[in-house]
Amino acid sequence: MCSIIGYLGANQAAPILVRGLKRMEYRGYDSVGVATFSENQISVRKGVGKVAEVNSAAQLDALSGTVGIGHTRWATHGVVTESNAHPHPSSSGELAIVHNGIIDNYADLKKDLQQKGYVFKSETDSEAIANLLQYNFDQTKEIKKSMVSTVDQLKGNYAFVAVFEDGTLAAARLHEPLIIGVGKGGYFISSDVLGFIEHTDEVIYQDNREFVIINSTGIQIFDFEGNPVQHQITKVSKELADAYKGDYAHFTLKEISEQPITILKAGDNTKLELDLITEFVKHAKNLYITGSGTSYNAALVAKHLFSKYAKIKIEPLISSEVQYSPNYFDHQSILIAVSQSGESADVLEAVDIAKKDGAKIVSIVNIMTSSLVQRSSISVGLNCGPEIGVAATKSFTSQLAILYKIADKLCGGCMGLDFNKVSESIYKILSDHSKIQSIAKKLKDISDIYVLGRGIHFPVALEASLKLKEITYIHAEGLPGGELKHGPLALMDSNVYVIIINPNDSTYTDTLASAHEIKARGAKILGISDRPNEVYDYWIEIPTISEALFPLIEIIPIQLLAYYSAIEKDTDPDYPRNLAKSVTVK
Ligand code: AGP
Repeated sequence: MCSIIGYLGANQAAPILVRGLKRMEYRGYDSVGVATFSENQISVRKGVGKVAEVNSAAQLDALSGTVGIGHTRWATHGVVTESNAHPHPSSSGELAIVHNGIIDNYADLKKDLQQKGYVFKSETDSEAIANLLQYNFDQTKEIKKSMVSTVDQLKGNYAFVAVFEDGTLAAARLHEPLIIGVGKGGYFISSDVLGFIEHTDEVIYQDNREFVIINSTGIQIFDFEGNPVQHQITKVSKELADAYKGDYAHFTLKEISEQPITILKAGDNTKLELDLITEFVKHAKNLYITGSGTSYNAALVAKHLFSKYAKIKIEPLISSEVQYSPNYFDHQSILIAVSQSGESADVLEAVDIAKKDGAKIVSIVNIMTSSLVQRSSISVGLNCGPEIGVAATKSFTSQLAILYKIADKLCGGCMGLDFNKVSESIYKILSDHSKIQSIAKKLKDISDIYVLGRGIHFPVALEASLKLKEITYIHAEGLPGGELKHGPLALMDSNVYVIIINPNDSTYTDTLASAHEIKARGAKILGISDRPNEVYDYWIEIPTISEALFPLIEIIPIQLLAYYSAIEKDTDPDYPRNLAKSVTVK
């Protein structure tokens, strides 16, 4: 998604902005730009590509001035070009803006402003903010009044920062994140704490429907009607500053490798919250769980855990689909929302619908300062540290760990959870990559891969196929074993690879039968199991563990396989094409 950053202080702004944008690269983007204010004028430089590439071509960080704004764009309106990249100056160039989100009424605003003589140079919705703000400033000659009028006229979801020709920064937020950093050398404003964490850990969380004005005399925050509001400065975890790869080639590999530790930290120090959630769940008439992508796959695993061990029915809902099937929720409903970022627009929308209908919201989330936490009655933190790779890895196993803890509490400890054993097993899988690396070489040129699992292993198969398609760009599909003969068997031939998730548990024999059916059609079989079998062309051994716990470990070799296949294919596993880490638009 787009990332925005602004700085006003004692130092040169451009190098600070460029470094901040680099720290937020993980969020995903296609183009980048910076604008600074110096000697009574605003200068803009921008381009298409990675921050480092555009910086070396356009010398973004050489712009002078101690006030500025920066942006990485993830295209929504208008193709990926330099003219569509941000910052967007107003038509007179007296101000420039950067924006994250979508302006729903931009076409009407654009038409109206064009009729008033304001010129547009891009195809973006964002440029409407620049010219609208300029128009309101031309009318009022006051930054505060122009902000009040502008936010009143904009429809949609947005966070934007504007730099004015007198060196003032102004920024507003509506349903998109915007965080103010208060440092010794100046103020920062960004979509993500990572944008400025190396300079300060003191932050102000600007609420929805608020705007801020920052100039050399200080900072003032207002609600959208223009009334002043006060906020406490809070400290954020220094752990966020950890977002460096260290000795690892990629964040994705680092994050996969952290799982023996993160699995033990999931939901740390949350006994109270987990007890409360257990009580809520026990007394709920209707129980739902929602998420998107990987987080939804974790929700599907939870369905099996809750029904098998706690004998409780929980209905998983794909967050983006909730709006099309309203009337799920009432005052006796509980919705468990699962999200790494806590900022996915689809998840927030599902939560808003449920809340409006009276449901109680419980969330399982990594970023404890996120919008999802603000909307929840109780939240449990994944505690897995920043996840930078766009493909979710450690957050998936941490989400599962918390869902396992809840299921176990619900059945009075019947699952015999032993996370130390899980951690040891993951260590074992991670201790030798060589076999997985050599299999990855074989996958390099294939176009289709299927991942098969039964029962609780089917959602893991879905998650495995999501990892493969996301970072290797190979078409991958997760299948429940029993469905093979109802259609997909027609696709099996010698060009196809099938990964069989087949631990030695109650699904083993049936899944093995599926493997034989596939093998008979010539496809290559890659078995993930604690038990060898001649049907496997390749066998990746996982340690034996108690039946309930297999999902926590069987995903690990497939995460590694996806990573090494991406390396073989020379794609960037950390930043897959067209994807963003935090999908804050619908
Ligand atoms: C996972 O690898 C994906 N990048 C994506 O599906 C992700 O899980 C989804 O966008 C949900 O994100 P969230 O957990 O931050 O809400």
